[in-house]
Amino acid sequence: MAAYDHFLKIDSLTKRFEQKNRAEIITVIDNVSMAIDEGEFIVFLGPSGCGKTTLMRIVGGLETATSGSVVLEGDYVTGPDRKKGMVFQSYSSFPWLTVLDNIMFGLKYRSDVSEKEKDEIARHYLDLVGLKGFESFYINRISGGMQQRVAIARTFAAGPDILLMDEPFGALDAQNREFLQVQLLDIRRAERKTVIFVTHDVEEAVFLADRIFVFSARPATILEEVTVGDYLPGERSLATKENDEFFRLRNRIMALTREQARRTEEMMVAGKT
Ligand SMILES: Nc1ncnc2c1ncn2[C@@H]1O[C@H](COP(=O)(O)OP(=O)(O)O)[C@@H](O)[C@H]1O
Ligand SMILES: [Mg+2]
Repeated sequence: MAAYDHFLKIDSLTKRFEQKNRAEIITVIDNVSMAIDEGEFIVFLGPSGCGKTTLMRIVGGLETATSGSVVLEGDYVTGPDRKKGMVFQSYSSFPWLTVLDNIMFGLKYRSDVSEKEKDEIARHYLDLVGLKGFESFYINRISGGMQQRVAIARTFAAGPDILLMDEPFGALDAQNREFLQVQLLDIRRAERKTVIFVTHDVEEAVFLADRIFVFSARPATILEEVTVGDYLPGERSLATKENDEFFRLRNRIMALTREQARRTEEMMVAGKT
């Protein structure tokens, strides 16, 4: 039995930023609280500019909160460490390394496994993301979708307790994005890792999530929490997207987010962003 109530706990989190060359201080996250259990696939859904990346950076320890706290496995998050693995929208791989060496890089600082095991782990994830045969390709010779699969494999290989994925498929075209969604679900099925996945795409959120936190326009507050598992089976496939329940849920959440996107536009027009 673990010595904590929840795997991840965000408590009354608020973040304010001072603006460069302006007296104004903007509130980006306003009193957000939530509890996440081990093995859950959580999606943060919200309009562009609402504060999703800021929240993820605070959970990842890359940014500090103005007030409130984040507690992971019983410990306050005070900085980045190996427990938290991050995948960003931009392809953050090393162009001068091969696909396999990029994945190996994620294992560089692991002292709990031997060199031989590192090689096995790297090849295991290479296989899971469907890149077998591309081991010795250099990063700049493969497609954007493949580069993102390398980044995902590298992050999994590093053995984090939680994966923080910030719009990882945002730069991909629709086909590639769908392909990677399915692949991510496959990896999840194999590994049961706790994931927080950020997106502004409602369909992506409904397809992937066990639970969605729908955020308001800035400052981000939780508008609604949707337990997708109450509507859709835990095991998903592309056929899930044809399901009536999928459409109903997607449409309901879209109606919710449309209003927030409109508010974001108004803020932009008013020059408040
Ligand atoms: N370091 C910073 N300094 C000042 N303002 C920031 C900083 N980082 C983010 N912001 C502001 O916080 C708001 C939310 O940004 P962000 O978290 O990136 O939103 P999202 O990821 O939902 O698009 C934006 O208005 C952005 O300009
Ligand atoms: Mg963002």
